[in-house]
Amino acid sequence: DNEADLKPRAPVVTIMGHVDHGKTSLLDALRGTSVTSGEAGGITQHIGAYQVTLKDKSQITFLDTPGHEAFSDMRARGANVTDIVVLVVAADDGLMPQTIEAINHTKAAGVPMIVAINKCDKPEANPQKVRERLLEHEVIVEEMSGDVQDVEVSALKKTGLDDLLDKIQLQAELLELKANPDRAAEGTVVEAKLDKGRGPVATILVNRGTLKVGDIFVVGAESGKVRAMIDDKGKQVKKAGPSTPVEVLGLSGVPMAGDQLQVVDTETKAREIAEYRQGV
Ligand code: GTP
Ligand code: NA
Ligand code: MG
Repeated sequence: DNEADLKPRAPVVTIMGHVDHGKTSLLDALRGTSVTSGEAGGITQHIGAYQVTLKDKSQITFLDTPGHEAFSDMRARGANVTDIVVLVVAADDGLMPQTIEAINHTKAAGVPMIVAINKCDKPEANPQKVRERLLEHEVIVEEMSGDVQDVEVSALKKTGLDDLLDKIQLQAELLELKANPDRAAEGTVVEAKLDKGRGPVATILVNRGTLKVGDIFVVGAESGKVRAMIDDKGKQVKKAGPSTPVEVLGLSGVPMAGDQLQVVDTETKAREIAEYRQGV
């Protein structure tokens, strides 16, 4: 892409942290939804992708990851497709094994981190202890003369949310995120499944270009033609630009999470590339 073709794009922000520290609750509070109430056992088991429009009309794409220890690969993937990580640490529980794992995934991905110290409404909350423990893992917050921003929040009482959004926007501005929306789309599979009624469905995070209904594509070892796209609010859309998460229908099979999607010219070409990758 030429520099002149690049346009500002929304930051992709992945929420990570230990199980039950309040990642989904925090996103619910930011979005005005209640995803948590619909989760089996109150446990997140997949990567959720959402777009939030702020008062100034700017947008942030959020990826919600599971905190349960079984889902380490999803946390690693979340850290790898994102611009910024928000590490959620419950102020009563403090640093726990998956908090530390999330720190390591974030460092390995080379992504900037913002720490959201959650559950600050609780009497036993101890945010200062969280900052001190973070120091042991070389995450040094600003008031300890480091460069990691931290913010005290309560997803329950909805406090500190504007502060968190400000810090995300500030960090995003520093990154000067841009992409060319006017080219053949490229994206990443956030997750994929075989849906009983709809067939193979993939949640694609568009990285650059604009994905449109009717586009022919190859994704990992699968190919297809976009039959329909559904946004994070369940609405059918005709196109999706950079940083937008969409569910894509019209795949030949179920790709793997992390696979790259590329729009190509012809169905023959798409099939050839997919078959080559399948080793057929
Ligand atoms: P996993 O996705 O399963 O890892 O959990 P999570 O990090 O998404 O946590 P979740 O949002 O499911 O919240 C876990 C529990 O903490 C729920 O019972 C929430 O109601 C509670 N909780 C979340 N945020 C707060 C908060 O700010 N204050 C208090 N007091 N409770 C909270
Ligand atoms: Na939970
Ligand atoms: Mg959750």
